[in-house]
Amino acid sequence: MSIVNGNEIFAAARKGHYAVGAFNINNLEWTRSILAAAQETNTPILVQTSMGAGKYMGGYELCLNLVQQTVKSMGITVPVIMHLDHGNYEAAKECIEVGYTSVMFDGHDLPFEENLEKTKEIVALAHAKNISVEAEVGSIGGEEDGIIGEGELADVEEAKKIAATGVDYLACGIGNIHGKYPANWKGLHFDRLKELAAEISTPLVLHGGSGIPKEQIQKAISLGVSKVNVNTECQLAFADATRKYIEAGKDLEGKGYDPRKLLAPGAQAITDVVKERIDWFGTPSVK
Ligand code: 13P
Repeated sequence: MSIVNGNEIFAAARKGHYAVGAFNINNLEWTRSILAAAQETNTPILVQTSMGAGKYMGGYELCLNLVQQTVKSMGITVPVIMHLDHGNYEAAKECIEVGYTSVMFDGHDLPFEENLEKTKEIVALAHAKNISVEAEVGSIGGEEDGIIGEGELADVEEAKKIAATGVDYLACGIGNIHGKYPANWKGLHFDRLKELAAEISTPLVLHGGSGIPKEQIQKAISLGVSKVNVNTECQLAFADATRKYIEAGKDLEGKGYDPRKLLAPGAQAITDVVKERIDWFGTPSVK
């Protein structure tokens, strides 16, 4: 199966009341671990690069080539969507040029009319090449310079206008936060999600999927969320497994310092997290 766009996969997810996971990659291990989880569960998957990860890995073309070649060399047969996560206008255009099959244009910090206009432009450019588009309304909270923001709830009227541009999936702020959730987090705003889902048939996206209790994620999916983004959870699992390996002194035994050995427990931990999340999301097997 070659790399595909997200249109049919996420439209089917919204109809079927399940979600498909979107997982961020950082390097070869991350890419292999996430793809392995999808193959082992025989489910579609979305692999995404943030702008930072794209820069870290050496550019979007390299990221796309990495995923394409890894899909080929691992003999991956499930559908894989190659997506830009939280792209600005320039990054979204670049990924459309390079050949990603899906891009997020995140204009939430622009004045609304500008977000709307730029989303329209990206939709026109992407759809001309059969590439899917995600946009964002409201904002996803998170930690910035030590200050934890709650995020801004998506306004239903604004969300309707962005959905009308023809975006294929829509990220809405509903109290979700990137990174670790603070102890006093109030939980997802299900009332706002219900209002949004009642007005918009576009598949909805839940960012900040790490650390949200399973019951809340599953409730959000039952109400119209079709794509759940997970990043921090994989990073924590990787760091934890790697720390355990080193603290157990395994890098000092024989050739335990070989990166192929040293990174293996962390890589397996990522696969385990992704498989567990696929189960939570109810993603059905590919026939
Ligand atoms: P987390 O890192 O909180 O899982 O968020 C991931 C995300 O939403 C990427 O866009």
